Amino acid sequence: MTEQSAGSGGQDKPTIAIDGPAGSGKSTLSRALGQKLGIGRLDTGAMYRSVAWAVLDQGVDPSDVDAVADVARRIDISMGDLVTVDGTDVTEAIRQDPVNHAVSLVAANPGVRQVLVERQREWVVRHGGGVVEGRDICSVVLPDADLKIYLTASEEERARRRSDEGASSVARRDRLDSSRTVSPLAVAEGARVVDTTDRSVDELVEEIVTWL
Ligand code: CDP
Repeated sequence: MTEQSAGSGGQDKPTIAIDGPAGSGKSTLSRALGQKLGIGRLDTGAMYRSVAWAVLDQGVDPSDVDAVADVARRIDISMGDLVTVDGTDVTEAIRQDPVNHAVSLVAANPGVRQVLVERQREWVVRHGGGVVEGRDICSVVLPDADLKIYLTASEEERARRRSDEGASSVARRDRLDSSRTVSPLAVAEGARVVDTTDRSVDELVEEIVTWL
């Protein structure tokens, strides 16, 4: 995998793991934290979305466990300002309905998770730290991170932030992500729970950097 934002590796930068459900504010906060601290940011959700996109693009049945894991192993995902899969720009396509609908099933596939977790850990080593956001970052990908955060927000606020996707699609993904057998979304041991409902991004960043 080639890579997303800042950071040339080698230095000792903090490692910050952020998990949370859809619309909890992970992307906005991790981007702001990365900028504030001058470190890279990895959106692992975009990686699962990229696999789901490739599965649909190749006409593979998302419930065919072996074929889907095979797609994950074969494709190159590049996470820069643009997200590309084997050179095709998928930045916008991975946010559309077909991928919203397929991604939680693809992400529940143990073979897919094995491949992506390994690439995510490699990214952190290559960048010497960074902000990594997703669903299993505190529990599985980086249990020894310098800081582990679980973001929440009220259901109404999360639905408002995700009005483009639609409340029922968001609720369905959350249900699937929290109830799957492999790496379900949950508050990991040692993670600080942060409610972003009535908080500004600046205020949250100021508070979080004091925890490092
Ligand atoms: O759009 P939103 O921020 O809610 O989700 P995302 O971070 O783009 O992740 C999309 C989907 O990928 C989630 O609904 C999960 O099914 C899956 N995912 C995961 O299983 N593990 C991760 N570390 C990140 C995302």
